[in-house]
Amino acid sequence: IRIAILISGRGSNMRSLIAACAASDFPASVSLVLSNREDAAGLIYAREAGLEVRAVPHRPYGKDRESHERAVNAALTEAGVEFVCLAGYMRLLTPYFTDSWAGQMINIHPSLLPLFPGTHTHERALEAGVRVHGCTVHRVTAGMDEGPIIAQAAVPVFPDTDTPDSLAARVLAQEHLLYPAALRRLLCGPACEMPVPEKNDALLV
Ligand code: GRF
Repeated sequence: IRIAILISGRGSNMRSLIAACAASDFPASVSLVLSNREDAAGLIYAREAGLEVRAVPHRPYGKDRESHERAVNAALTEAGVEFVCLAGYMRLLTPYFTDSWAGQMINIHPSLLPLFPGTHTHERALEAGVRVHGCTVHRVTAGMDEGPIIAQAAVPVFPDTDTPDSLAARVLAQEHLLYPAALRRLLCGPACEMPVPEKNDALLV
């Protein structure tokens, strides 16, 4: 399956997907890395990795989200993309875009949805006093961070010592394992295991 990875920033989840797709038995290949920001650090990495890269800046479109999405869709179609992975793509999506990719688009979110949709998830988890936090791979629907859950990884919260940054780092390490594992399981069906790496004490389901 030909996938596109959509990013807005550093692209560490993008890297983990690129690495997974490099394995010959992985059921996806990266046809395009696209960003709404020309200066996204992840674009440099993707370009150096020899991948097709496109920036489609949203600024020229002002408040007209759908026109920007039409330009994104044109790039995706041109690259022959069949499936879209959002990886830190910081744009609210309109129903035009979510309908275009219904059933063919997933996202990774840094919380155990349905808890803490939106931004600043790690601060909010600490404020709420939860003892378990984590990340979610979910299908993308019109409601932000509301689509059906595909897979989650849970990590402990250490309330006495954790800061938003230390918690974010613990979650991010799991994001990098979860995203490729969830994509693999989604694309090759229930027969596909989600391999839990040895010595990983996170819960991956
Ligand atoms: C990740 O925490 C992801 O869950 C969220 O945005 C962040 C992107 O980080 N959606 P990166 O660009 O993949 O490093």
